[in-house]
Amino acid sequence: MEESKGSRIIMFPLPFPGHFNPMIQLAGIMHHRGFSVTILHTSYNSPDPSRHPHLTFRTIRHNNEGEGGDDPLSQSETSRLDLVSLIRLLKQMYAEPFRESLAAEVGGGDTVCCLVSDAIWGKNTEDAAEEVGVRRVVLRTGGAASFCAFAAFPLLRDKGYFRNKQGSRLDDLVIELPPLKVKDLPVIETNDPEELYRIINDMVEGAKSSSGVIWNTFEDLERLSLMDLNSELQVPIFPIGPFHKHSVDLPPKTKNKEVYETTNWLDKQDPKSVVYASFGSLAAIEEKEFLEIAWGLRNSEQPFLWVVRPGLVRGTEWLESLPCGFVENIGSKGKIVKWADQLEVLAHPGVGAFWTHCGWNSTLESICEGVPMICTPCFTDQLVNARYIVDVWQVGMMLERSKMDRKEIEKVIKGAMIEEGDGMKERSFALKEKANLCLSKDGSSSKNLDKLVTHVLSFDN
Ligand code: UDX
Repeated sequence: MEESKGSRIIMFPLPFPGHFNPMIQLAGIMHHRGFSVTILHTSYNSPDPSRHPHLTFRTIRHNNEGEGGDDPLSQSETSRLDLVSLIRLLKQMYAEPFRESLAAEVGGGDTVCCLVSDAIWGKNTEDAAEEVGVRRVVLRTGGAASFCAFAAFPLLRDKGYFRNKQGSRLDDLVIELPPLKVKDLPVIETNDPEELYRIINDMVEGAKSSSGVIWNTFEDLERLSLMDLNSELQVPIFPIGPFHKHSVDLPPKTKNKEVYETTNWLDKQDPKSVVYASFGSLAAIEEKEFLEIAWGLRNSEQPFLWVVRPGLVRGTEWLESLPCGFVENIGSKGKIVKWADQLEVLAHPGVGAFWTHCGWNSTLESICEGVPMICTPCFTDQLVNARYIVDVWQVGMMLERSKMDRKEIEKVIKGAMIEEGDGMKERSFALKEKANLCLSKDGSSSKNLDKLVTHVLSFDN
């Protein structure tokens, strides 16, 4: 789009892969539409800019860096924190440095069209943007349905639903948010539940006071939730996903040895025979659960590709808690890796099901490839996503974490792979078609992207 030539957007991602990756994808989409994009990123989990030569990167440092071991965001310090405490700390440590960096960028000469900040940064970024007279658009990297649940937190709290989450009414319907059950409410175990409510509230209020919210979702997938959000938020909303399927010019991917070996292994498997198991970039499990997963995968007698990220199993380095000889006994029937190129794996014809924690990116990626899911959500939005996958879109089976022993795992995998899960494969294929259509020339996401471009360009006036 010629009219956006030279217009500059500043983006401020949250430094976790599940948030950073979609922001970078959005940057690619906007760059493709003629914008120049600067990514202001935290020194915590700093990215590798060489992978994105079309974007400009600037590091924001916090004030305690390099002060002789006092860095509260060092690996050794943050590994002790739960996710809620880590987010609280990130928001606190980077608030002022972000304000300064934004002011420096805006004062640097070129006109800045707008700031796009991750919704979790909340109102911090609003004040900073207002100070320098730049409009702020929010990117919500999760789905619309889970955001509806977050927006309902004050009401649900008043009605005592969160107390029920510890009680015996876990299977009760949340009448304000069907089809969610009490056990699906998007909370996380934390030492500081009050802080969780503050972070969620700040995210929702920050979206309401923004100049628009961008969603990595599409209308045919979450139409009703998007309609609810439209009236709840009262700001323009732009569902333009799935981001990773937009056609943009990407630099060639660098493949490491593990990725090559994985592709070679997948190439040798029968069509749709492999269970791909991965629990994203943040979730951690106990050693006991890890062993049940290992035996369940093995006993299912299906070929499997299993991502065991270092740090996935609490208190261990990697695979050392597996029984002696376990890996050798699996032979070529299963493959365990530290990380996979998930987009490539899900698109591989050998993959028949995805056993997932239902992070939003994983959910969308699976939908886009028509791969049915086995759902083991761990926390927050994953719980909502799983309910929608199983009950609304009906493209997955639930395997609850609390019921996850080796027998149940074997049963669910066989159900999904061998008994073909009761029409699940056909529905997955149909949903994949819808995901493709929304990005066609007249598809909803393409049109919403046009509207987004027009919207942000109008800020210049
Ligand atoms: C987090 C939250 O857990 C999730 O609920 C929220 O929606 C986003 O932030 P994460 O746990 O990382 O995300 O899961 P997910 O959203 O699925 O993102 C993981 C990303 O890492 C996906 O894009 C996936 O393709 C990628 N990935 C994961 C790989 O490329 N290789 C792997 O081996 C595992």
